Amino acid sequence: MSYRIATIPGDGIGPEVVDATLPLFQTAANTHGVDVEFVGYDWGSQRYLEEGAMMPDDGLDHLADKDSILLGAVGHPEVPDHVTLHGLLLPIRKGFNQQVCKRPAILFDGVESPLRGYEGGDIEFTVFRENTEGEYSDIGGREHVGFDHEVAVQSAMFTRAGTEAILRAAFEAAREREGHLTSITKSNAQAFSMVFWDEVVAEVAADYPDVEVESLLVDAASMDFIRRPEEFDVVVASNLFGDILTDIGAIVTGSMGLAPSGNINVDGDYPSMFEPVHGSAPDIVGQGVANPLATVLSGAMLFEDLGEEAVSEALWAAVRDLLADGDAPRTPDLGGDASTVDVVAALETRL
Ligand code: NAI
Ligand code: MG
Repeated sequence: MSYRIATIPGDGIGPEVVDATLPLFQTAANTHGVDVEFVGYDWGSQRYLEEGAMMPDDGLDHLADKDSILLGAVGHPEVPDHVTLHGLLLPIRKGFNQQVCKRPAILFDGVESPLRGYEGGDIEFTVFRENTEGEYSDIGGREHVGFDHEVAVQSAMFTRAGTEAILRAAFEAAREREGHLTSITKSNAQAFSMVFWDEVVAEVAADYPDVEVESLLVDAASMDFIRRPEEFDVVVASNLFGDILTDIGAIVTGSMGLAPSGNINVDGDYPSMFEPVHGSAPDIVGQGVANPLATVLSGAMLFEDLGEEAVSEALWAAVRDLLADGDAPRTPDLGGDASTVDVVAALETRL
């Protein structure tokens, strides 16, 4: 098989982790008889500062014919975060109807959790985050700007189709893992959207009698992600709640530098996009110490999504093996003193 994959390294450490890992993906693919061509796009904040837009007007047209997309990160100290997000990331997620955001949180062997008493293998869950609507819908506005009676309105929109899509993806995953599902809401306070969400959960659950369903309020869930992370298996949440909870998931499993994600177009009409959960990390940019593993695992998810299980599994195995080896290089976020390229070289050897 042969694939064309768009790469958008983006800002900050994005280019550091994407440029370093592309040769690794080549190796993993070629070893298993898979051909990949990477087509790079230098979109992001630099382009915004020079030309006034994060990507060209016809940006999505460039990406539409690719088999998949790998993104680094966006975010620049001189550009407001809502500009970087709304100028690149959200248009791709929404424009390509990537309704499902899948974010595994795994405590690997050899990685220390900041939580006391947890060892590798103890924590392993996946958060399914609704990705194109909910609290991040582009509905709202500001009026009376500058007056005392200035007003800002931001509406959350939940459609039956979008809610059902994320729930079905989560239920499918729970069934496949023979696990249970936790739906996270705030139905006590948000009596329209979240009560609706609960109703759709009940409807979809009827098609998955084998999946055990638990429901948690988001404040309690935030506590339980720390108090009893080992008990979660598949977690499903709205756009905002999923965004927040996955940062907790990333840190209880060791580092932001380890957490991968996929933004998935369920129907296959458009390419899906894979990216590390972390941002552009301006505090460590240019030092060559960004952890590349979140990007490597995002690549592993990308190949799995393309149906290239062997390539995906080779990448997962290389990461697992590296982390379990106490003598292998690791970046400072994991307590080591190795550079990004040291870690990539050690993975290359394992592949
Ligand atoms: P961040 O994820 O960039 O950084 C948070 C902390 O984690 C920092 O201390 C950073 O050094 C560390 N970190 C992150 N990735 C790492 C890696 N690969 N290796 C080692 N350490 C790592 O989040 P922050 O600081 O809130 O945001 C920075 C910028 O990134 C902002 O402009 C924000 O808008 C943007 N951002 C972009 C995202 C995206 O592109 N998907 C997601 C989150 C934030
Ligand atoms: Mg986030």
